[in-house]
Amino acid sequence: MSDLCPHRGVALSVGRLKGDCIQCPFHGFEYDTSGLCTRVPANGMNAKPPQALKVKTYPTREVHGLVYIWWGEPRQTYPALPWFESIHEDMVYTTMKDHWPTHYARAIENQLDVVHLPFIHRTTIGRGNRTLVNGPLATEESLWPGDHLINLWVYNEVDQGQKPLKPSELPEPTRRPFLQFRFGNLWQNWIADNLRIVIAFAPIDQENTLMYIRYYHTLRTPLLRQIYGWIGSLGNVVIERQDKRVVVTQRPFRPDLEIGEILIQGDSPIIVYRKRRRALIDGTEN
Ligand code: FES
Ligand SMILES: [Fe+2]
Repeated sequence: MSDLCPHRGVALSVGRLKGDCIQCPFHGFEYDTSGLCTRVPANGMNAKPPQALKVKTYPTREVHGLVYIWWGEPRQTYPALPWFESIHEDMVYTTMKDHWPTHYARAIENQLDVVHLPFIHRTTIGRGNRTLVNGPLATEESLWPGDHLINLWVYNEVDQGQKPLKPSELPEPTRRPFLQFRFGNLWQNWIADNLRIVIAFAPIDQENTLMYIRYYHTLRTPLLRQIYGWIGSLGNVVIERQDKRVVVTQRPFRPDLEIGEILIQGDSPIIVYRKRRRALIDGTEN
């Protein structure tokens, strides 16, 4: 439901639930699941609310603890929702949420950017001064029509004067990808079969994104689970803040294929992402 009371413009999200209705916090008007106003308390319990009091609603679906909203025109059937099937049922997660004042595609590109590791993350995951970027290797896969998955393998090395290998010169990967991105907006760092970091990027508008960062693991004992989830999340926060500080300064806010950036070989996953995103927007994807 749109977060705007048609009476006098208050955010309904600060209201409360009354049965299946949302009650606006300002003057108590109530709206049902179709967005129709069912009650205007000031007009008395027997009054019929004016028809014009209607809030726009959107079809939603909840899966894997994420709520998806369909922004487009209503349809008979809706497309399948993306997920990483390799995240098995036994895994539990803790979530943290963070607001980034940037376009969602910038936040996504950052997660596919392997060139930044020894700089932004010098003190954490980018330790070791591996500034030379071989490849990287980015492949695309599709499980069903309209589905697009990017797999990414990283081969950064310490620079000893060697020439970085082109993606085509890299050996055929024998292990699972380090990173995966699935269109719409899901990313995972496949640390181990029982350990993942997943990010769902929720677009707010052209200059704001909400990041839902999840730490998936298999420790189920309540206390251990809590401690482990907490420590894992704390580590993620440190790394995520290192990225955020830099990425939110990128201009223009909204990236695309032809925005005048001068890209290098190591940026190839970003080009793969930009091409696919453009094709999806234009409706020309295969
Ligand atoms: S602004 Fe919502 S009831 Fe008045
Ligand atoms: Fe990063």
